[in-house]
Amino acid sequence: MRTTLTIALFLLSALLPVQIAGKHVNDSFRPGALWLDDSGRHINAHGGGIINYKGTYYWFGEHKADTTSSAMVGVTCYSSKNLLDWKNCGVALSVSDDPNSDIVRGCILERPKVVYNAKTRKFVMWFHLELKGHDYSAARYGVAISDKVEGPYRYLRSGRVNPGRYPLNYSKADSAAVCSQYDELMSLKWWTPAWNDAIVKGLFMKRDMESGQMARDQTVYIDDDGKAYHIYSSEDNMTLQIAELSDDYTAHTGRYVRVAASKMNEAPAIFKKDGTYWMITSGCTGWAPNEARMFTAKNIMGPWTQLPNPCTGPKSATTFGGQGTFVLKVKGKKDQFIFMADIWRPNHPSDARYIWLPIDFKNGIPVIQWRDEWRP
Ligand code: DGJ
Repeated sequence: MRTTLTIALFLLSALLPVQIAGKHVNDSFRPGALWLDDSGRHINAHGGGIINYKGTYYWFGEHKADTTSSAMVGVTCYSSKNLLDWKNCGVALSVSDDPNSDIVRGCILERPKVVYNAKTRKFVMWFHLELKGHDYSAARYGVAISDKVEGPYRYLRSGRVNPGRYPLNYSKADSAAVCSQYDELMSLKWWTPAWNDAIVKGLFMKRDMESGQMARDQTVYIDDDGKAYHIYSSEDNMTLQIAELSDDYTAHTGRYVRVAASKMNEAPAIFKKDGTYWMITSGCTGWAPNEARMFTAKNIMGPWTQLPNPCTGPKSATTFGGQGTFVLKVKGKKDQFIFMADIWRPNHPSDARYIWLPIDFKNGIPVIQWRDEWRP
């Protein structure tokens, strides 16, 4: 009896610290619910992305304040071994107190994504940056680097993409059409068929030739051959662009393509299965959810073909109330992918919730179904 009691007490004491330290608090994914970190606080890493480095997952995302969607803290980092329990590793990229800095507190800093460059052994963070006080007009990318995965990241620069460079898939005919009537086309009324046709032909891409291409919602993808690509909403959110990155992942090479011209896509999230690329995006309705879209390609630089909404079942017309941000390939599990999305709460940004759902494949096509609760 005494031995049993001793063993029971020993086992209890072994379990208690784990419970108290709050290390293992989550047994399942519960999309839309509060998701507590190791200190019992709702994870604050929105519009995020994940990398696996040396067997640990690192989740980077926007720190959201309680009353504003502007960046008051910066990019946060959490780490996990099992994707359910996350340790808060603090601020990976901090906003600056210098009023002259591009990333001064109060700027808009969204959708950060981190990649690891095996050659330089640096971690590279890309994000969407809007200058403080200028709403969404700057439409810049931002880039920062670190020697350590969890940071601190050093801000390098921000800017528009590939000034002076034409897309690889831009036809001579479209170029000639836009050039010959540029002023006329620029004065067309927005949303008319003629204006839409001019957008398809690259009117805004041409308008931004000197400054560089606009870059808003974004992600970064590393292909199997180690080449990196920056995928972003451009041309006033009318058209996506995919731009190749330099070998050190910190700059654009000048090679890029336009995708889904005039179709207004945001929130690109990309993955590859059996040599086929899949990209899930959203429409452009601000913080309000809309229907997800899906594209596929055999080559990352296109051509890309649009397929129906990958979400099925109730609320699939609004991506279950969320907007995609990333597709996570689960390490060591063949063909396990998780679609990550945010349920935005613009009136209480820090209370924005997460939707993580597994991607199923039906006849080889990605399908996402709602689950109240699931386990990896
Ligand atoms: C939708 C984007 O996907 C978000 O990242 C954010 O920029 C909001 N629009 C702002 O309205």
